[in-house]
Amino acid sequence: MTGSIQRSVHDIVGSEFFDALVNAFYDGVEHDEVLIRLYPEGSDTVGARRRLAMFLRQYWGGPHDYMEERGHPRLRMRHAPFVVGPLERDRWLVHMAAAIEATMHLIPESDRDDVVHQLAVYVVNTAEHLRNSD
Ligand code: HEM
Repeated sequence: MTGSIQRSVHDIVGSEFFDALVNAFYDGVEHDEVLIRLYPEGSDTVGARRRLAMFLRQYWGGPHDYMEERGHPRLRMRHAPFVVGPLERDRWLVHMAAAIEATMHLIPESDRDDVVHQLAVYVVNTAEHLRNSD
């Protein structure tokens, strides 16, 4: 066999990692007075947790449950109703950085640095991409 077999981040970290990451993230967001105002369902974050975890699982190579339930992600369009300026972007990233820090022990040690780096680059770039206000 000569073909190379690519492992996705999802293969490495497992499905439950995304639930742990998103739960840690929203535990922070729920106590953030700036961010929580943006969330249509307010401090009831059960649905928001589910949607973000499904999306991240799919993005990182796991099952396509997000697509089946919500359709094409079109994240910029889906964030258009919310003011995402530098302040909101940065606070979102603070909570995501803390969530990565809190859950990185769940990533197998041999891949931890590489996966954390990939996650960090992705969230920084995507949060800026979703910024829709100065
Ligand atoms: C890596 C960056 C981000 C990703 C991957 C992401 C992803 C998502 C996804 C998948 C949803 C659910 C969309 C749906 O199916 O309806 C969502 C909702 C939302 N996002 Fe983001 N987002 C990011 C950054 C941000 C930032 C910077 C903000 C601003 C503070 C933000 C605010 C929101 C709000 C208010 C919702 C609605 C919550 C809900 O689903 O009920 N997001 N985001």
